[in-house]
Amino acid sequence: MKINIALVISIIIAVGLVAFGFTAFQISSEREQLNSELQVKTIRVAEEFYKNNLAHLATDDSTQIQITDSAIGRYNFLGMAAYYHADSIITINKETATYLPHSTDYIARALSADSSLSNKINVNGKKVYQYIRLVKRQNLPAMAIVFYTDAEYIENIINSIWLRNFLRWFLQALVISVVTLLIVRWGILNPLNKVIEWVKAARTGNIEQWKTKPRNTFLAPLYREISGIAQAMQEAKAIAQEEARLRTSAESIWTPERLNEEMKQVLQNKKLIVVSNREPYMHIRAGKEIQCIRPASGMVTALEPILKACGGLWIASGSGDADRDTVDENDKVLVPPSEGKYTLRRVWLTKEEENHFYYGFSNEGLWPLCHIAHTRPTFRIEDWEYYKKVNAIYAEAVVKEIKDEEEPFILVQDYHFALLPFLIKQQRPDAKVALFWHIPWPNPESFGICPWQKELLNGMLGADLIGFHTQYHCNNFLETVNDSLESRVLWENFSVKIGNHFTLVKPFPISIAFTFKDYDSNGEIRPSPQELLKQHGINAEYMAVGVERIDYTKGLIEKCLSVERFLDKNPEYLGKFTLVQIGAVSRALLKTYSDTVSAVEAEINRINWKFKAKNWQPILFLKKHHSHEEITPFYRSANLCMVTSLHDGMNLVAKEFIAARDHNDGVLVLSRFAGASQELHGALIVNPYDIEQTADAIKTALEMPIEQQTQKMKRLRRMIMNHNVYSWAADILRAMASIQN
Ligand code: F6P
Repeated sequence: MKINIALVISIIIAVGLVAFGFTAFQISSEREQLNSELQVKTIRVAEEFYKNNLAHLATDDSTQIQITDSAIGRYNFLGMAAYYHADSIITINKETATYLPHSTDYIARALSADSSLSNKINVNGKKVYQYIRLVKRQNLPAMAIVFYTDAEYIENIINSIWLRNFLRWFLQALVISVVTLLIVRWGILNPLNKVIEWVKAARTGNIEQWKTKPRNTFLAPLYREISGIAQAMQEAKAIAQEEARLRTSAESIWTPERLNEEMKQVLQNKKLIVVSNREPYMHIRAGKEIQCIRPASGMVTALEPILKACGGLWIASGSGDADRDTVDENDKVLVPPSEGKYTLRRVWLTKEEENHFYYGFSNEGLWPLCHIAHTRPTFRIEDWEYYKKVNAIYAEAVVKEIKDEEEPFILVQDYHFALLPFLIKQQRPDAKVALFWHIPWPNPESFGICPWQKELLNGMLGADLIGFHTQYHCNNFLETVNDSLESRVLWENFSVKIGNHFTLVKPFPISIAFTFKDYDSNGEIRPSPQELLKQHGINAEYMAVGVERIDYTKGLIEKCLSVERFLDKNPEYLGKFTLVQIGAVSRALLKTYSDTVSAVEAEINRINWKFKAKNWQPILFLKKHHSHEEITPFYRSANLCMVTSLHDGMNLVAKEFIAARDHNDGVLVLSRFAGASQELHGALIVNPYDIEQTADAIKTALEMPIEQQTQKMKRLRRMIMNHNVYSWAADILRAMASIQN
């Protein structure tokens, strides 16, 4: 409203000033013209009058003038006077007497100038024009005849010009104001108000209104600019809100310290024992030195931070060639080596035991049985016997460790120890025993081919709690139990009852040690893919990374084929893209594994040979055990990570890649057959058997706009932070604590 009034006033003043200027100029020239016309006309008529009626004055000395009112009226004079000298003035009519006092000075000036003069005088507010005609007489002083004519009409004309121009100014100002107001209202204020409403919607987070963008071509550039600013504001606001939310909820995010506190409450001074086949630290000989390494194992990656945070005892097979040299008389060693946070108790297996238990039944029987990766399981009776034997050895070791402990918490890991829960509970019913199965559980028909499925299931159901990564695996397990054992499967709470013993079967998706401080860490400088590849003699712009134990379940051949297909389909990436495949040799004594290594190498060689160019190859195979510190630079710098498992319980490589992306960029290409695909929304999910699809996913990942990458990566990182391995441990230990024996 204020702007309207100001606008109208401005228009009125502006138009008024222009109109006034023009009118003043017009009037001044009009007045000049009228005055000069009046002068010319008055002099002409007066001269004529003089010639007709007064010419005799120049020659005689008479002071008698015979002129009547009507005579001067005919000549349109108002009056007339004959001026001989100040005391002798003859006036013709009454008006002349009123005008004369205003003329005397001027008459005197004309006489002394000896010249006729004319000008305008003001007589009682009336404009009168006077012409003083000098009459030169012979032998007599000059005299003056004064003619008066009406000059008032000039003022009337001037006034009417003023009036006309005022009216014109008023109308112009009115019309211009109305038109301007309409233009301002409909053409500017309305669209502007819409933009204001729209910006307000952006500010207040009214997404619906924000989405309906105002249409206006005139304000389009402004809209575009504001749109950009508002977008940036929205994003900044969302980030700030999210960060504020994260900061306030940071305390609710699980950390080692929080888990430690929680464990004090949950365990109530009870002992925590982890049992696994694979040990978290292996001591190996390197020349004369003894090195301590962490084996390539998702299970170790997950469990190690928990033991580091809470302390406890970890019982595992000693498999390093210097392991015996580093333990005490009780076969124990404090680990991690320089920190000594918890105790590792090593169990020694003979070559035969390791051969039949680990390589045989566990990895030629159960591993392919549970992974649907089209490698046939092999069941041998000797392997089974050794499997039972080693489980018994471990049971003895555990029972020995808990002999003075009341209600200890025993966390058994993986398919190597299916019988262990029952064996422990048999001797120590008070112990709270959980079994976490790190690999998938197949459908009942698939599992049913195992000749000792009942014994395995009974052994497992000795546990109070059985955990899998996904509900799908829990359901498969419960169906297997339902189909093959005399038991009651209680689907309403996902538990199994055998006799008086209940076993709860629950999903606990395992994770990694990733907390708020890791999430919040600002991206430190990292090498570009190009720089990193150069260290390996490769010149390429883009890099994918894969990190796996060399295992037929990991889909390594499929991954290589999809890289080949990607390059076939997108030759513009030839010489520009390289997959760095880090592969730790695993279970190498088994033919299926050594065959896998050979097959992967042969495939990589074939593909590299097919495309190879100077200083470039499509796949760089780094076949050796890499420490976490060695892998991290590849995780951090790669454009994408490829996890193409044909079947996988969870797959922590996917989560480790995400954790390493402190720049919030990069893309994860993830197999739909890995348990992680259930959680990691934001990854590009592929069927690794579908080479075409995976090849296209590589392209999509490489060409994904950075904003999209960031949006997805932030979401993935938040997800992992909220569901880290500390929350996993808290969940599983709380569930154990809640079980009444
Ligand atoms: O996936 C099952 C699992 O036990 C993992 O926990 C681990 O990553 C892997 O197998 C290691 O196998 P191994 O102990 O035979 O090297």
